[in-house]
Amino acid sequence: MQNGPVTNELLPVSAAIEGGVLSVGGAPLPRLAEEHGTPLVVYCERTIREAARAYREAAPDALLVYGTKAFPNVAILRLLAEEGFGADVSSGGELELARRAGIPGERIVVHGNNKGDDELAAAARLGALVAVDALDEIERAVAAGVRRALVRVTPGIEADTHEAIRTAHHGSKFGLPPHDAIAAIGALRDAGVDVEGVHVHIGSQLLHLRAAGMTVEWLALFSARCRAELDWTPRTIDLGGGLGVAHVPDEAPPSIAEFVAAVSGELARAWALERLEPPRLVLEPGRSLVGRAGVTVYRVGSIKRASEATTYVAVDGGLSDNPRPALYGARYAALLANRADEEPGEAYAVAGRHCESGDLLIERVPLPEPRRGDLLAIPATGAYTLAMGSNYNAVPRPAAVLVADGAARTIRRRETMDDLLALEQG
Ligand code: LLP
Repeated sequence: MQNGPVTNELLPVSAAIEGGVLSVGGAPLPRLAEEHGTPLVVYCERTIREAARAYREAAPDALLVYGTKAFPNVAILRLLAEEGFGADVSSGGELELARRAGIPGERIVVHGNNKGDDELAAAARLGALVAVDALDEIERAVAAGVRRALVRVTPGIEADTHEAIRTAHHGSKFGLPPHDAIAAIGALRDAGVDVEGVHVHIGSQLLHLRAAGMTVEWLALFSARCRAELDWTPRTIDLGGGLGVAHVPDEAPPSIAEFVAAVSGELARAWALERLEPPRLVLEPGRSLVGRAGVTVYRVGSIKRASEATTYVAVDGGLSDNPRPALYGARYAALLANRADEEPGEAYAVAGRHCESGDLLIERVPLPEPRRGDLLAIPATGAYTLAMGSNYNAVPRPAAVLVADGAARTIRRRETMDDLLALEQG
């Protein structure tokens, strides 16, 4: 039994509650909080490896690359490289992290709707695959020495997710409409670039299979059009990332196996229908690899009854380590990591520490009456949390640890006051 509306599906696979104490990877969270301070993002190694293996099992021949932006971290990139993953990067910084993790260029895909010449040159030096995203990128990519490319196309499909993380609709800032994508493929080939295929990423936090299936079907028709107009067909189909994770009990995403079976089944069917050569599949999962693996542990501070309807439980982080509730209205669940077996009482609002009324991590969550000093754990915070963190209010960003077999390893150290001051001049 555990409090808050937290079900096992929201927690890392190694999570356990004993004597009211929540542990991850055999490490009790109160011990980790003591040793590493709070807020602390605790990643379960087993959850990440199991997710990676689920992708590999479902798509044994695919090139699997980690959507680095979900949590750009060298240790995680290395761990995933051990599982056979490469990296999808969207900036020179992410490319550098992948390089430091020892990922070879042939397993790196470089994205971005506005890549710099320096970023294109770095991609070219590593021999990475560049997803060309604009017509005016072609000349710059060629000049930078890019030899291998995909062309990113926008199929005009509206994925059923938050509009800020939808990317393949008509009018998207990403990719090229079909006509321009065909022109780009032709121009790149004329310039001697090996265009290996096409890329589509329809959106993130997808909880249904329909849009992904429709996209694959659309791509088969697009590939047939390429054959007719260019006498060229894609050898590679990169479907991006997108599979969602559950942050609250009423979100029920398909499993990795279901998601991959749906897209690869549709790929086989639609390709056969158009009499196209079966392509190599590339998948770029981010959130579905690391989202469930991460639990953020906060220390409870002030508790305030603000009105008849609302009692705030304030924690020592917030917007600076997880801006998703403020940005997307993202919902989370929570439990008290040190009193995890107590019955929840009334519902509380979990407020962050920042000077911003919108700094509310959870609007309402039932908890046992919280006390100052309790540890509040928010599950499913491994993706797009620290990755999008900030130093708002000059608050240092938290540390992240990776746990397995009862041992925790710091994979990102906590920022210090000196880190904050390091950029100041005068
Ligand atoms: N590939 C491309 C080209 C992408 O743009 C993305 C995510 C991925 C792969 C990985 O997608 P995933 O498997 O993680 O859904 N900050 C937002 C999510 C932004 C996603 C951006 N692109 C959030 O917190 O929900």
